[in-house]
Amino acid sequence: MKKILALVGTNANFSYNRLLLKFMKKHFKQMADIEIYEISKLPAFSVDVPLSEQTEVWKLKQKVKAADGVVFSTPEYDHGIPAALKSAVEWLSYHTTVLKHKPVMVVGVSYGRQASARSQVQMRQILISPDCDANLIPGNEVLIGGATHVFSKDGRLINDEMRDNLEECFTHFIEYIQIFENVDEEEVKMPIKQPRISEAYIKFPTGRLSLKEVQQIFSTIPFEIDLIDSTDHFAWYSDKPNREHVRDVASLGEPVTECHPPKAVPAVMAIINSFRDGKRDVVTRPLWMNGHRSLIQYYALRDVDGHYLGTIEFTGSVEYILGLFEKGAWDKGADASTGASKHEDNAPAEEDDTTADASTGASESSDDTSTDTVAPAPAASEPAGIEETDADTGASESGSVDADDDAADATTGASEEE
Ligand SMILES: Cc1cc2nc3c(=O)[nH]c(=O)nc-3n(C[C@H](O)[C@H](O)[C@H](O)COP(=O)(O)O)c2cc1C
Repeated sequence: MKKILALVGTNANFSYNRLLLKFMKKHFKQMADIEIYEISKLPAFSVDVPLSEQTEVWKLKQKVKAADGVVFSTPEYDHGIPAALKSAVEWLSYHTTVLKHKPVMVVGVSYGRQASARSQVQMRQILISPDCDANLIPGNEVLIGGATHVFSKDGRLINDEMRDNLEECFTHFIEYIQIFENVDEEEVKMPIKQPRISEAYIKFPTGRLSLKEVQQIFSTIPFEIDLIDSTDHFAWYSDKPNREHVRDVASLGEPVTECHPPKAVPAVMAIINSFRDGKRDVVTRPLWMNGHRSLIQYYALRDVDGHYLGTIEFTGSVEYILGLFEKGAWDKGADASTGASKHEDNAPAEEDDTTADASTGASESSDDTSTDTVAPAPAASEPAGIEETDADTGASESGSVDADDDAADATTGASEEE
């Protein structure tokens, strides 16, 4: 069932356009799950109001992002759309791409015989502007004039001709979404799952990898990785099955500030900025996620000269590793797979002291304490409210970056149980 977000194009207490959307919600309940959104919840648009203070705007953008399609129901005010609706669309087009390629449909009710035709033309023009770039279904006009006569007292659209037209247009809209999603699957998602130049190799100083191997390495290692690039945009995520943080290609390219609840943004940006400024290299967060113990680590990604390239978020369950530890896998003389002690007291000395390297066959001394643990650079100032573990002591400082007191995900703002 398609999820449709339907915006009431006015902030009036009583509205025939709201009545129309309520009728559509009931009438098409077998075809679509329609959620009606009141634009009266939004403040008037202004470029001077910081987006970081606009929780309601952020919520609306999340709803648009999650919807398969958006319906705008517009009244006609002075041959144009109401100011409140224009303001809502400005929020949806300013420093965001939530409407980009989003299937949208325009409907409208007005008193006049022209039935909101002129405001709908204006609405269509706005929706195809570069900053909206919505995927507007062509034709498909739902023009409902004479508002005071065409609805019953209980809110049903009782004009047969108008209702037939509405049914036809809404059915087209749902079909259009379906077709668009299939195109989207092949045209957009496939290149992400299948690197295009599958024969090419990347030559590293330490060997070469095919693009396919790179892709499959990221799918195979038990940790998932996300990249926020140096311009603070969500650039890439590893295509690992059963990810802890479920990602969507629709979020790729979004500014990191857009991917978070506004209240989480300062803490997330504090991590990123401390990496960019060279004050820190690592932030570690042990968390309970999806019912198991997990570790999130943010790393500053730098080139060989130390220039900031972005932030990577490294996330995975550590249940398996902790389980081994708890079974005593690293206790001296223990068998790593079972935790059971492997050697008798009279076992040959070299077996006690050597471990084979699976890739080269070289052996390392078990007494070698030169591990590669990297301690985070001392923080000049910690972002308020980030749960962080001190790499030296394992002590954890409590807190949360999420507005609702859950720990926020630096890439998308998804929150996990603590
Ligand atoms: C400021 C204003 C301007 C209006 N201009 C038009 C108009 O140009 N064309 C029209 O058909 N109706 C016009 N109307 C009447 C609206 O169609 C009518 O108020 C309608 O109910 C508005 O939709 P709503 O009930 O969803 O708020 C205007 C109403 C207002 C308040």
